[in-house]
Amino acid sequence: MKISYKELGLVNTRKMFEMAMKGGYAIPAYNFNNLEQLQAIVLGCAESDSPFILQVSSGARKYTNDILLQHLARGAVEMLRSLNSPVRFALHLDHGDSFELCKSCIDSGFSSVMIDGSHHPFEKNIELTRKVVEYAHAHDVTVEGELGVLAGIEDEVSSAVSHYTRPEEVEEFVKKTGVDSLAISIGTSHGATKFTPAQCTRTPDGVLVPPPLRFDILKEVERRIPGFPIVLHGASSVLPQYVAMINQHGGKLDDAVGIPVPQLRDAARSAVCKVNIDSDGRLVITGVIRKVFAEKPAEFDPRKYLGPARDELKTMIIDKNRNVLGSAGRAKEIFG
Ligand code: G3H
Ligand code: 13P
Ligand code: ZN
Repeated sequence: MKISYKELGLVNTRKMFEMAMKGGYAIPAYNFNNLEQLQAIVLGCAESDSPFILQVSSGARKYTNDILLQHLARGAVEMLRSLNSPVRFALHLDHGDSFELCKSCIDSGFSSVMIDGSHHPFEKNIELTRKVVEYAHAHDVTVEGELGVLAGIEDEVSSAVSHYTRPEEVEEFVKKTGVDSLAISIGTSHGATKFTPAQCTRTPDGVLVPPPLRFDILKEVERRIPGFPIVLHGASSVLPQYVAMINQHGGKLDDAVGIPVPQLRDAARSAVCKVNIDSDGRLVITGVIRKVFAEKPAEFDPRKYLGPARDELKTMIIDKNRNVLGSAGRAKEIFG
């Protein structure tokens, strides 16, 4: 049975991006797969009064179950209402790889979808994206497209190498597809090891320093499509304290390195209106669970290790909203 996101109490991304562009901040898009992540995202954004995008990959949708997901989203809206919070959110498909998947998500209550045709030739990317936009807009659902390829593993779409976005393609793509936002590739990548040690320099005390993002490409994109919402994927900072927590408690994450926070702050002040964060949440959860297991080997109540992981994730989310993206305190101006 088809259901509109409006019946679930969700919003699309249009107003969020309009206000983020005007206000010089970015909307966080947090990936989730399970109950504890959902609780942390909803409560963290309610506490920091931040709009947000609840982001689901096709793998996460299968893992959660599409019917249950619909009810979780509705439940999260009800929870926010019961807290008297003005915060609302979009339910967004991350890295959709086909028209059929996007349609299925729209028909089951998503308010926003990404069609990632970035691995296709330019003309094919336009054709596929246009088809999704036509269906989505008929249902008042917003669409994110992508130009340029990020290195790293994307759910159903994988790429060993990255190709920076070619600014000379953006006007034609946006015009011909009718997309509402555009993901670009300026040097970020997915996962916890965004750069090889060979791509980095080292501080005297051995800390890896990644190459700077290509803000020159972002500036040129902004010049060509002024005021158009840009999306940054692969934007986790790979926070060193959680990498250390994992490695100190039996884990082995070598050479993990992410996007430095000052560069994310600069991006959030620009036309970047949506910042995707998945790996940072995974690292927090894994770090805390490993620590509890190491310190309390007799513990076998899931609430005793998932609960602290959830609480730490909530703290991280509040910090991102307040100190990195600038989305904290913005819910009222968007949702009234
Ligand atoms: O960009 C990819 C996201 O981090 C989702 O990852 O496909 O493992 O759920 P996933
Ligand atoms: P990270 O792996 O940097 O968290 O990026 C997530 C992402 O881009 C999801 O689409
Ligand atoms: Zn991504």
